Amino acid sequence: MYGSTTLAAGAMLLASGAQAINITSGYINYTTVAGYFLQDVASTNASTFDYTATNFGLINQTYSGTTSSTANLTQWQQFQAQVAALNAAAPLNTVYKVLFMGRHGEGYHNAAETFYGTPAWNCYWAELNGNATATWYDADLTPNGINQAIIAHNFWQHEIAVQKIPQPQSYYSSPLTRCLKTTNLTFNGIPTPEYYPFVPTVKELLREGISIHTCDHRRNRTYIHNLFSTWDVSDLGEYDTIWNGVSAETNDAQDARSKKVLDSIFGTDDHTWLSITSHSGEIGSILRVVGHRSFSLNTGAVIPVLVKAQFLPSGPAPSSPAYTVSTHCANPPVTSIASLAQGCVCSGTAVGGITTPIYNISSDYPSGAGFQATDLNTPTVLASATATATATGGASGSSSSSFSTSSSKSSSASTSASITASASTSSSRPYGPPGYNPWSSSYGWW
Ligand SMILES: *[C@@H]1O[C@H](CO)[C@@H](O)[C@H](O)[C@H]1NC(C)=O
Ligand SMILES: *[C@@H]1O[C@H](CO)[C@@H](O)[C@H](O)[C@H]1NC(C)=O
Ligand SMILES: *[C@@H]1O[C@H](CO)[C@@H](O)[C@H](O)[C@H]1NC(C)=O
Ligand SMILES: *[C@@H]1O[C@H](CO)[C@@H](O)[C@H](O)[C@H]1NC(C)=O
Ligand SMILES: *[C@@H]1O[C@H](CO)[C@@H](O)[C@H](O)[C@H]1NC(C)=O
Ligand SMILES: *[C@@H]1O[C@H](CO)[C@@H](O)[C@H](O)[C@H]1NC(C)=O
Ligand SMILES: *[C@@H]1O[C@H](CO)[C@@H](O)[C@H](O)[C@H]1NC(C)=O
Ligand SMILES: *[C@@H]1O[C@H](CO)[C@@H](O)[C@H](O)[C@H]1NC(C)=O
Ligand SMILES: *[C@@H]1O[C@H](CO)[C@@H](O)[C@H](O)[C@H]1NC(C)=O
Repeated sequence: MYGSTTLAAGAMLLASGAQAINITSGYINYTTVAGYFLQDVASTNASTFDYTATNFGLINQTYSGTTSSTANLTQWQQFQAQVAALNAAAPLNTVYKVLFMGRHGEGYHNAAETFYGTPAWNCYWAELNGNATATWYDADLTPNGINQAIIAHNFWQHEIAVQKIPQPQSYYSSPLTRCLKTTNLTFNGIPTPEYYPFVPTVKELLREGISIHTCDHRRNRTYIHNLFSTWDVSDLGEYDTIWNGVSAETNDAQDARSKKVLDSIFGTDDHTWLSITSHSGEIGSILRVVGHRSFSLNTGAVIPVLVKAQFLPSGPAPSSPAYTVSTHCANPPVTSIASLAQGCVCSGTAVGGITTPIYNISSDYPSGAGFQATDLNTPTVLASATATATATGGASGSSSSSFSTSSSKSSSASTSASITASASTSSSRPYGPPGYNPWSSSYGWW
């Protein structure tokens, strides 16, 4: 009844030649619906939590609203019925989605951070393309990382067979190589429901926090397309124009960017069960945006989150917090400062650290690897930056930089998620009937 009423309303709107809905003028408010997953519970320790030993963390319980119809169903089937019931009862401006957010498996940059220690990594090594024996720009998966993705694959297979877990209806990935490969390995060979094929969408803004680390610089779109040619890379420009080798997102800038990519996904995707493959820092930022408690993922780990999204006519104005300058050492640091989370004492004349790239853009930039050296800002942009005695590195998620500068790069300059949705979006989707579809049935959220 619900469906037919709203379909009729939608048809009337279309018949009268309604304009596309411009949701950029509204505001999507995200909240995490707690009470379903162990990861929401304060007593769950993220560093020792094993999603494969706990049914993805889904708490065993009966849900009061749907008990009678779900007596013999698995916990995931009951949860699926619960989410469907929440959506069916929700006002037209509200939708519930389940995000399965997976962190990529271990990359060479992760191994190197362990090898050098975090301070030295942030202050020096991460700014290089690699060392004599390993490369970590746009880092690839290590054998251990491949294995972690295969663990995720095996667990999904087990959950599909035993728990009848709802399979993702849409797949999203960061454009960085380690996430692309993790997405592929995780879902490779898993049969998908007819209406929900495995065709990942690569989203520019699902990338790791922008830092001066070369591991967070993506390759060109051609490279990504050649890697997985059936995937949707239409969100990407040919080159990475966001990473610039000199400035870094603050947490606020990253959260604004994460909201933008969530708005893009929630504003265009009528599916309920979404897989997102991203990074430690970026998933942490998305968790902040949806109001989830802090929960750090180990490499290869997956966290499910039930998100409620409310489409409001207006909200806080979108912000574009400035990036900050990242300082680092010109040479391997002599020591690290225990009292400072990511602090190093630099060696050489510039003991206070520098703000210019330490590699030679002409000679050290990996040629033919899918980057474009002109992506980089010229170091002179940073002439006004003042140094202090401590280099804090460019760690993603770090807000401890003691530097400020007049040069800032607005995150809104990025290939932004424009979320103008049109009423015809749903009918042009190639997937066929997605079951409950609050999206296409709610022409007019306000
Ligand atoms: C959508 O709304 C925003 C904010 O009101 C406006 O700037 C933009 O031009 C609109 N876009 C379209 C396609 O109407
Ligand atoms: C979580 O587990 C780690 C590793 O065992 C331990 O060091 C840490 O103290 C624990 N945290 C809490 C809050 O119990
Ligand atoms: C729920 O119960 C099943 C067995 O009935 C068990 O395998 C699973 O670990 C339990 N989940 C949680 C989160 O305790
Ligand atoms: C659940 O299973 C039991 C035993 O197989 C059966 O008697 C009962 O009818 C089932 N209940 C439902 C709601 O399917
Ligand atoms: C390069 O870094 C890797 C860690 O990723 C380490 O195992 C290796 O020993 C390093 N090579 C050299 C020459 O230091
Ligand atoms: C994963 O990548 C491999 C190697 O490129 C490819 O053969 C396979 O089809 C991919 N799997 C999926 C599901 O895209
Ligand atoms: C978003 O939802 C939260 C929780 O319901 C509420 O506290 C907050 O005021 C809402 N924000 C806006 C802009 O409506
Ligand atoms: C950088 O490398 C280029 C090409 O090898 C060389 O001509 C230039 O002098 C180098 N610049 C610096 C500052 O080392
Ligand atoms: C993209 O990167 C590949 C390397 O992966 C390179 O061969 C190709 O020339 C690059 N394409 C463009 C347009 O820069």
